[in-house]
Amino acid sequence: MPNRFLNPYIEKIKDFSGVVFFGEECKTLLNGLNHPVFLDIGCGNGENLVQQATENPQNYYIGVELQYKEVYRTALKIQRKGLNNCKVFQMDAKKLPELFKDKRIAGVNILFPDPWPKAKQKKNRLINNDYMKALFSKSIDGAIFKFRTDNDDYFLDMLRTIYSMRDDHSIDIKELSRDIYNKVKIEHKDITAFERIFIKQGFLINALYFIFNKSIKKYD
Ligand SMILES: C[S@@+](CC[C@H](N)C(=O)[O-])C[C@H]1O[C@@H](n2cnc3c(N)ncnc32)[C@H](O)[C@@H]1O
Repeated sequence: MPNRFLNPYIEKIKDFSGVVFFGEECKTLLNGLNHPVFLDIGCGNGENLVQQATENPQNYYIGVELQYKEVYRTALKIQRKGLNNCKVFQMDAKKLPELFKDKRIAGVNILFPDPWPKAKQKKNRLINNDYMKALFSKSIDGAIFKFRTDNDDYFLDMLRTIYSMRDDHSIDIKELSRDIYNKVKIEHKDITAFERIFIKQGFLINALYFIFNKSIKKYD
């Protein structure tokens, strides 16, 4: 008898062999590649990820997502488009950097990460000093980082984090806006599913984009 408490998507995503990866398989895939990867951390339903992968067949994309249902929705899109340059990892993104054995990250999108708005929840936010250090340690020169959020407090936190790292890392800020769509046109190709909802609700969208270059050497 089916267990009505079991999340049905746990089984469903097992049908996407070669598209959805779990646990050790993620590590094996990453370390078997001989080219850099673009990451979409917390890719949700995969709309933006699949769009990027479709438009840039020369790049290799990996969506990282915790929720089984979102992994399923992403996998379905990848399969329907027949994309060979796009995969999805079902995992906690906090563990992602430790899967890379060498510098392999060419780009990171963190678009509308869970805001954890209450003071005592803030420790759960994905972006913090340690996480960024871990990502940087696996990033190649010229890697492009893109963050967007409707949550002002999280955005200011992100800025503090990134600015505090500028003594040790070369971080070339390309875009910093508290209202990105007042400045650039909303282009369908880059918009995410959550972003569309937030914009409809009248929220302003904060954006921070930067290029990471190798760590700055400290003089003894
Ligand atoms: C607000 S949604 C945004 C989804 C998508 N980026 C968008 O803009 O439409 C945040 C997503 O991040 C995922 N997420 C949150 N924490 C995560 C973690 N530690 N590892 C992987 N995914 C995570 C959630 O499951 C959710 O799908």
